[in-house]
Amino acid sequence: MQTVGVIGAGQMGAGIAQVSAAAGYRVILSDVDQARAEAGKAGIAKRLARDVEKGKVDADARDALLGRIEPVGDVAAMAPCALVIEAATEREAIKRQIFAEVGKVLGEDAVLASNTSSIPITRLAQAAPDPARFIGVHFFNPVPVMGLIEIIRGLATSDETVATIETYARQLGKQVVRANDAPGFIVNRVLMPMLNEACFALGEGVATIPDIDLACQLGLNHPMGPLTLADFIGLDTCLEITRVLFEGTGDPKFRPAPLLIKYVEAGWYGRKSGRGFYDYSGETPVPTR
Ligand code: 3HC
Repeated sequence: MQTVGVIGAGQMGAGIAQVSAAAGYRVILSDVDQARAEAGKAGIAKRLARDVEKGKVDADARDALLGRIEPVGDVAAMAPCALVIEAATEREAIKRQIFAEVGKVLGEDAVLASNTSSIPITRLAQAAPDPARFIGVHFFNPVPVMGLIEIIRGLATSDETVATIETYARQLGKQVVRANDAPGFIVNRVLMPMLNEACFALGEGVATIPDIDLACQLGLNHPMGPLTLADFIGLDTCLEITRVLFEGTGDPKFRPAPLLIKYVEAGWYGRKSGRGFYDYSGETPVPTR
């Protein structure tokens, strides 16, 4: 059984650890300290408890899955991993520092992948121990539910590295798409302008928050309206990716909506901060305007 390392035990990292363990991999899950890594694993256990209650997973399988996840407080523990996936904070300096640290212990044939949603893979590869064994592997939130993985190769990524990641992704039961190392790859290139446009529409008074969401949910058959989805992803993340699209292409069609900027400046990041386009302090989300 191969061992997969996951760096970052937040929402994405924990999700990646969960689906990897579910596919039979041993997983070493790290965060900045042991307590955060343990908290990531506790979150997985909580989700799985609900799946057991619903009868989707049996208790023995759940126990075996959790038994395959080892939380650690230091990336030095990643030495036995054939594949290490970095899912840390979306800040380039932090990722670069992690790559330097994990580079000290990474096996000679091991692949290092980043779950970045917006930083160019070729640029990040410069901080990796070996750019040929570095690749982008973009998961979607919530990881256990979403069926897709985008694979992004940098200029120096080798064919063997692409093959390793494709094998891993299929083992997880996910569909794979290959994207070039262009701003936003495929999904965010298409999604973020839609979310940004919903912010423009709201800011210009085209319609209310619930009507914009309902219109897109029912009119386009999307599982969530764009403002609900923006809150779900995080408005700070949406703004950051929109800025990457704007700066990376130089095309004014990607300019961030003033209202989106204002909400982020106000610290209204969406679900994670308790308020975005909706207020999440009560039982059900309430539109804020
Ligand atoms: N973890 C695990 N499972 C979850 C989950 C989570 N965080 N949230 C929901 N689920 C599961 C539920 O257990 C349920 O499973 P079941 O049907 O087998 O019982 C199923 O998903 C449906 O959940 P709910 O009934 O609670 O709620 P909904 O039907 O409203 O679905 C949703 C919730 C799956 C989040 C759905 O609304 C959805 O698909 N939304 C769109 C999500 C999306 O677009 N994600 C991509 C974001 S972009 C991105 O990630 C890229 C990044 O770079 C920005």
